[in-house]
Amino acid sequence: MRVIEAKDYADLSRKAANVISAQVILKPNSVLGLATGSTPIGTYKQLIDWYNKGDIDFSMTKSINLDEYVGLDGTNDQSYRYFMDNNFFDHINIKKENTFVPSGVANDMEAECVRYDKLIADMGGIDIQLLGIGHDGHIGFNEPGAAFEKTTHLVTLDERTIEANARFFASKDEVPKRAITMGIKSIMQARKLLLIANGPDKKEIVQKAINGPVTPLIPASILQFHPDLTVIYCFN
Ligand code: F6R
Repeated sequence: MRVIEAKDYADLSRKAANVISAQVILKPNSVLGLATGSTPIGTYKQLIDWYNKGDIDFSMTKSINLDEYVGLDGTNDQSYRYFMDNNFFDHINIKKENTFVPSGVANDMEAECVRYDKLIADMGGIDIQLLGIGHDGHIGFNEPGAAFEKTTHLVTLDERTIEANARFFASKDEVPKRAITMGIKSIMQARKLLLIANGPDKKEIVQKAINGPVTPLIPASILQFHPDLTVIYCFN
């Protein structure tokens, strides 16, 4: 595990973007596992900036996202598909048909879970997975529980997660209660992992996740077992 302290959020974003940029330069047809939330926004901005300067070419790159709210389709401005288009894909030359986010509105959500795992396998797995971390230690929407959930599955969001995500909605009541998320097995099978965490409120959970016992009560703690994990944090 490599643990890197960033000076501030801009530094964290540049460092994370550097890692992703190196991946795309070295392997232009990389499969990038991507995350939403407030933490990666600066990383995406930096990558867009380097794309505009001609430093990175995403034309052969594919992406697969971690999760989506159940009940929101891609035209809903709170959906994670909308977030990704708006914050990243619409500003670079990745082909939209090569970007994948689980559907939150499939008729059969169980079948969507199976489809998503097959999709990851058919893409040859994930080259680098970008991760944020929730205050309860979730990665993707793998919430604390009795066991690590291996495959793509449906979850009921924890109260803390709903509260944390309410800042993006008009009110807490509007936050969807359920989500579809990539499972721990797919995340752990990614060839590289890049976990980013920003802000003093993330300090305690990051320390527990990377130094504490590995337990499904802190889903991110499983990352300690990954052979190629980079953690970049700024707790200022
Ligand atoms: C989102 C996701 C979540 C977030 C986590 C941290 O795709 O996978 O696990 O990474 O909730 O969110 P922020 O970055 O908003 O603190």
